[in-house]
Amino acid sequence: MNTFDFGIVGLGVMGRNLLLNIASQKFAAAGLDLDAEKVNSLQQEADAGHTLEATTDVTHFVGLLQRPRAIMLLVPAGKPVDSAIQSLLPHLEEGDIIIDGGNTYFTDTDRRFLELSAKGIHFFGMGISGGEKGARFGPSMMPGGDKKAYERLRPIFEAIAAKVDGEPCVEYLGNGSAGNYVKMVHNGIEYGIMQLISEIYDLMKRGYNLDEDTIQKTFEEWNESDLKSYLIEITSHILKQKDDNGQRLINQISDWAKSKGTGKWTSQNAMDLQVPIPTIDAAVVMRDMSKSKPERIEAAKKLIWNTDASAVNTAEAIDSLKETLFFAILITYAQGLAQLRTASKEYNYELNLETVTKIWRGGCIIRANVLEDFRKAFAADPNLANILLDDAIAEKLNQSQAGTRAVIQFAVQKGLPVAGLMNSLAYFDAYRSENLPTNLIQAQRDYFGAHTYERIDAPGVFHTEWND
Ligand code: 6PG
Repeated sequence: MNTFDFGIVGLGVMGRNLLLNIASQKFAAAGLDLDAEKVNSLQQEADAGHTLEATTDVTHFVGLLQRPRAIMLLVPAGKPVDSAIQSLLPHLEEGDIIIDGGNTYFTDTDRRFLELSAKGIHFFGMGISGGEKGARFGPSMMPGGDKKAYERLRPIFEAIAAKVDGEPCVEYLGNGSAGNYVKMVHNGIEYGIMQLISEIYDLMKRGYNLDEDTIQKTFEEWNESDLKSYLIEITSHILKQKDDNGQRLINQISDWAKSKGTGKWTSQNAMDLQVPIPTIDAAVVMRDMSKSKPERIEAAKKLIWNTDASAVNTAEAIDSLKETLFFAILITYAQGLAQLRTASKEYNYELNLETVTKIWRGGCIIRANVLEDFRKAFAADPNLANILLDDAIAEKLNQSQAGTRAVIQFAVQKGLPVAGLMNSLAYFDAYRSENLPTNLIQAQRDYFGAHTYERIDAPGVFHTEWND
C-alpha cells in the first residue's frame, strides 16, 4: 500500500498502453476502470511480471498511491473528465496532482484548474499523441499549467516519452491550458496533412491513372526523402494491406470520414483569434463533405464535367506531386504554428515554439523530418512570426511552387477536388502579396455602411459620400 508511483484512471486503449509503458520503465503504476474486463486483462500483465495493479475500486486505487498522489485521467473529453474528478475528490488530499491526458477543450482545463486549486489539488492538462503504439512505446506529450506539479512528475514522463537524438519528446510548454491548446493545434495540423495526402492519392489514382502498385511504392519511396514522416509511412503500409479476399483493403473502406472534434475546434478558435488556417479549415470541411454520400451519388449523375484524357509522363507527374505535397505540408505547419504564436499572446501561455517543434519531432502523429527544420528556424529567431519568413523554408517553398501550380491546374482541369492543396497555395499567394485587393472591400464597407477606411497616403480615418 501507498507505494505506487503513478495512477491512471481509464484503461481504454490509451490508458492501458500508457500504464504498461510506465510499468516497463520500472515505475509502479496503478490503474482504475469501472469495466472489470479491462481491469482483468491488465491485471494479467501484472501476473506476467509488470509492476502494476488494476482495480475497479476507487478507494483501493487511491490507497495504492504514494503521497502526494499523481493520477492521470485518460477518459473521453467532456463530462467523463468531470465525473472522474468528482469520484476521486473525496479520496484525495491537499497537494495531490491530477493530470488530464485527454483531448480536452482548453477552456475546460482552465475551469477545472480554478475549481481544483480552490481545493488544494494541483491540476494540469497534458496532450498526448501517438495513438496505441505511441502510448505503449513512446508518445509525444504536451504538458502545460502547474509547472511545479509537472516538475515532480518529470522523471516519469521523460522516461516514457519518445526520444529523438536522446532528447525526450516531452517538455513543459507554458501556462494554463497551454498543453491542451498545443495538442488541439497538433490535431488541426494532423487533419490538414491527412487531407493533403488523400488528395495526392486521388490525383495519382483518378488524375494520372497510376496503377496501385506504383502508388504504394511511391509513398514508400517518399518516406525515404524530405517527406519522411509518420503519416506518409502509414499511408504506404495502408496501401499495401490486403483484406481476407486478397483485395486491397483501401478500396473496400467507406469514404465517410468521421471526427471527434479537435480539428473543428482548431478552426473555430482560429476564427476567434482571426488567424488564417485555410488548409486546416478545408480538411474539416472535406470530412463534412464526405458525409453526404447519397447526395454525391445523385450529383455525380447531374453535375457533369467531361475531362480530357491526355497522356502524361508518369515520372514527371510523380515528381510534381511530391513537390506539391511537400509544399502544402509546409504551409499547413506554418498555419498551425502561426495560430500557436497568436494564441500564446492572447491566452498568456508564453509558448516557446522551438520547444513545441522539438517535442513534435518524435512520438506524435505529425512527426516528420521537417520538424527539425522548424526547430532550427525558431532557435535562430524565437520571434519568427511565421515559418514562411525563415530563409531556408522560403527557399524550399520557392523551389517547389512551380510543380504545385502545375498539379493544381491539372486537378482543376480534371475536375478533381483538391481543397487542401488549393487553400495551401492560396495562403502562400496571399501571404506573399504586398498588396491585397481588400482595399476594395474597405471601400464597399464604407459605401454601404459608412464603416470608414484608412488611406495609404495620409494618416487618420476617412469616410466618403460615394456617388450613386
Ligand atoms: C493523436 C491523435 C488522437 C486523435 C485521433 C482521432 O495525436 O494521437 O490526434 O489524439 O484522437 O487522431 O481524431 P479524429 O477522430 O478527430 O480524427
